[in-house]
Amino acid sequence: HRRHRIATIPGDGIGHEVIEAGQEVLEAAARKFGFSLNWTEFDWSCDRFQNTGQMMPEDGIDLVREYDAIYLGAVGWPTVPDHVSLWGLLIPLRRELDLYANVRPVKLFEGVKCPLADRKPEDIDFVVVRENVEGEYSKIGGRLYEGTPQEAANQVAMFTRHGTDRIMEVAFDLAKRRRKHVTSATKSNGIVHTMPFWDERFKAATARHAGVETAAYHIDILAAHFVLHPDWFDVVVASNLFGDILSDLGPAVAGSIGIAPSANLNPARKTPSMFEPVHGSAPDIAGKGIANPAAAIWAGAMMLEHLGETQAAEAVINAMATTLAQNETRTADLGGTEDTRQSVAAVLAAL
Ligand code: NAD
Ligand code: IPM
Ligand code: MN
Repeated sequence: HRRHRIATIPGDGIGHEVIEAGQEVLEAAARKFGFSLNWTEFDWSCDRFQNTGQMMPEDGIDLVREYDAIYLGAVGWPTVPDHVSLWGLLIPLRRELDLYANVRPVKLFEGVKCPLADRKPEDIDFVVVRENVEGEYSKIGGRLYEGTPQEAANQVAMFTRHGTDRIMEVAFDLAKRRRKHVTSATKSNGIVHTMPFWDERFKAATARHAGVETAAYHIDILAAHFVLHPDWFDVVVASNLFGDILSDLGPAVAGSIGIAPSANLNPARKTPSMFEPVHGSAPDIAGKGIANPAAAIWAGAMMLEHLGETQAAEAVINAMATTLAQNETRTADLGGTEDTRQSVAAVLAAL
């Protein structure tokens, strides 16, 4: 009997609602496919910060190291400045566990209304592979001359050969299991010093992977192509900040960010990988029970896949797709009238 130990961190806002929803679906999949999931919940959140002054305990990272995977809702709430909550929880989880590949699939599902005219599901099916531990999100920099007229803020974007090469590797490996095409998100036309280096490493990766077709676009026109030509893309490899932006733009083009999942992977499996929706805590709808659980459910399916439960993962995605295709089982972000519970019930029925 297979047993997987999962650390859950619901976090803040709708994080609680969608993680509970996801757990229900994953439990049903586990029963159906004959394995078990042992959940341990951690209350790390902005609430915890307000009570204790810390988002997570000192030894938090070591506590979750022991698990097979981490299932996270969302981090951030208006009561705590985002730079405090994020540097206190989400960012250390990604960095200290070296979850350097953030894999974010984008897909237009049958039945989901696409904001672009005349686009069919086969037109939008790509994956953003986002570098997740360096680049523009570096710790180097801060506030200068605080409180003076010369006050300023700066940040050094850090791109290492090791960090850049290994994210390229993840992108090309993934492309080989898909339609064998990788697009690089760049901005090497002059002013951004790091990007000519990014391009060199992309070229080096291209040379290592014969049989994979490539393209490269500056991030500005790439954003436009996501809207105008989403069918051009299979795997898109991007730096931390560019990947962050593209992984909200992509899902918006495919109907809703309420569907988009995210796998923070340590491909060598030296640490537990972490699975979460792309979206945040959604303070505007939190507590109302109307969040779309699809992103958390799909992220849960990616977790099952990572744990080797391939059949269960497929069944969860199929159940979710069936539900999305049914007009009467959609949440408000998709133009429907269902709440989170009703949407979960529909996925369970389909499963
Ligand atoms: P957000 O993703 O929380 O919300 C953006 C908009 O999308 C809101 O209108 C929200 O209602 C809607 N939305 C998001 N998820 C939805 C869902 N499942 N169903 C229906 N509608 C949904 O982004 P934001 O408002 O920029 O950020 C809010 C907080 O979340 C901030 O503190 C931010 O830092 C944090 N955040 C955390 C993560 C994360 O933990 N990975 C990701 C993004 C934002
Ligand atoms: C995401 C989020 C985070 C990021 C924020 C909350 C730090 O937007 O997971 O996409 O920028 O990585
Ligand atoms: Mn983001």
